[in-house]
Amino acid sequence: MTTFANRMFEGRTALVSGGGSGINQRIAERLAEQGASVALVGRTQSKLDAVASGIIAAGGKSAGFAADVRDYDALLRSSAAAHEQFGAISIVVCGAAGNFPALANAMSANAFKSVIDIDLLGTFNTCRAAYEHMDPAGASIVTISAPQAVQAMVMQSHVCAAKAGVDMLTRTLALEWGPLGIRVNGVIPGPVADTEGMDRLAPAGPVRDALAAQLPLRRVATKDDIADMVVFLCSDAAKYVTGAIIPCDGGMTTASIAIQTPRSATRHG
Ligand code: HXC
Repeated sequence: MTTFANRMFEGRTALVSGGGSGINQRIAERLAEQGASVALVGRTQSKLDAVASGIIAAGGKSAGFAADVRDYDALLRSSAAAHEQFGAISIVVCGAAGNFPALANAMSANAFKSVIDIDLLGTFNTCRAAYEHMDPAGASIVTISAPQAVQAMVMQSHVCAAKAGVDMLTRTLALEWGPLGIRVNGVIPGPVADTEGMDRLAPAGPVRDALAAQLPLRRVATKDDIADMVVFLCSDAAKYVTGAIIPCDGGMTTASIAIQTPRSATRHG
């Protein structure tokens, strides 16, 4: 039987994209609490530094290595620096994402592309660059998907397309990298409180309350709900799990619930 040891990621290096804020910050903190040295990747060095300082103040190990996930060469440099400072990478969380509510006919081709580039290409770039600096034995990659991958939503054509791609990328990498010892799984977070994404799509107030009331578990997620799932997937308890895309969404996708973003939330509302 597998039991969770305290500090079960001691001696391991984790790379978390989007780790400067939101859900990914909490994931980074939880991995560090479990002993991992956490390399934070994101666009803004000062945000990464602030999160790393918090982790260090709490007794953990962390540093920020700024890169835009759309830039493969920058990610390769960040991965190399993380490897150099902390040792070979064996946990990767692909969390960087972009989103805004917009109808397809109010979106430029470049607007659509920007989300595809951050979410889908960025996930590939993160996995591919980290791979070059990875210790594959027992390694775990977790991609962060969204309900939009399986549930069509108005004003979300870019995110629906990108996250559906992320899920298939996740499953394909699981096939190709499983024989090397690398597990690759995805998490579908439902609506998460206190995040930029939720604030954009389901602003606090009646829209969010109505969404929460429809969810089978009758509440939106906390960041810890999602971080717990990622910790599980990186742990030995999940050692036979790969290619799985796991909803951690209070039943949102099972119930086929779509977020009803108000028109006033768009630029063209
Ligand atoms: C229409 C918009 C728009 C909007 C931007 N664009 N916002 N079009 N409506 N509200 C267009 C711009 O006009 C431009 O097109 C193109 O998109 C790129 O915009 P830039 O601002 O130049 O790009 P960039 O600075 O790279 O910013 C990327 C971004 C931005 C995605 C647009 O929102 C961002 O940086 N987001 C990161 C943070 C974030 O989104 N966090 C929430 C993630 S939550 P033109 O044609 O004018 O050049 C998440 C979870 C989803 O993803 C699930 C929730 C349940």
